[in-house]
Amino acid sequence: MNDRPERPSKSHGRLSARASVQPRSLMEDPPAPVRAWQARVITLCPELFPGPLGASLIGRALAQGLWHLETTDLRRFGEGKHRNVDDTPAGGGAGMVLRADVMGQALDHSVPRQAQGAWPILYMSPRGGPFTQARAQALAAGPGATLICGRFEGLDQRVIDHFGIEEVSIGDYVLTGGDIAAHAVLDATLRLLPGVLGNAESIEHESFAGDLLEHPHYTRPAEWEGRPIPAVLTSGDHGAVAAWRQSQAEAITKVRRPDLWEIHQRKKRGD
Ligand code: ADE
Repeated sequence: MNDRPERPSKSHGRLSARASVQPRSLMEDPPAPVRAWQARVITLCPELFPGPLGASLIGRALAQGLWHLETTDLRRFGEGKHRNVDDTPAGGGAGMVLRADVMGQALDHSVPRQAQGAWPILYMSPRGGPFTQARAQALAAGPGATLICGRFEGLDQRVIDHFGIEEVSIGDYVLTGGDIAAHAVLDATLRLLPGVLGNAESIEHESFAGDLLEHPHYTRPAEWEGRPIPAVLTSGDHGAVAAWRQSQAEAITKVRRPDLWEIHQRKKRGD
């Protein structure tokens, strides 16, 4: 590295001092500050968090400060003596609806002020768009997210529109509330953060859409309950093992997930 300025300035009769004449150690980029990924959860059941996210690899990452959890108890913002958070649906019908004003206050509390507008806010709902590996990757690449766990029939549409909330479903079934869905979304996202998984598990090329489902796995004992391990897996023929695994993965995907099989075929054809 040349310490001399490229175009010396002589305006004051001497070479101008520039950062480049500083000792080398001061010239190197400072390490990027490690900012914990912010998981912010709005829920009527704050006692459910971290729950399973406090265990195993994700739990260790929480203890290490790789991610941070903040739960907001929606009841805190409820109306009146009973801290009501819901009311009957306009137009009539069954069930109760979470109030826009109550949720609005909870969001004002949960969404970081400096990030307003750019901060992902996800409402866990069976009528949401499907949560995917690609969405998990996009979330993990950002600073964090607020996840709203609903109970009751739904959330007032006005608060969804006002905050630009994304409705997310984890599958075509109805849970009693969004908390379990939020656990699933957070687990899928947090495992993608740098340093959360050990070296043993690589996430470099995980995509899912268009991928085949995994082939079956076997380990010792060689025979169990009269069932041997498929002979090809103990043959030592690596080419034959790879071919067997590929054909098993294809067969399983075709039967269980014709939608993924279709995408896989299209990707292979290059269209
Ligand atoms: N809340 C209730 N059911 C749900 C689902 N399938 N996905 C996300 N949130 C939900």
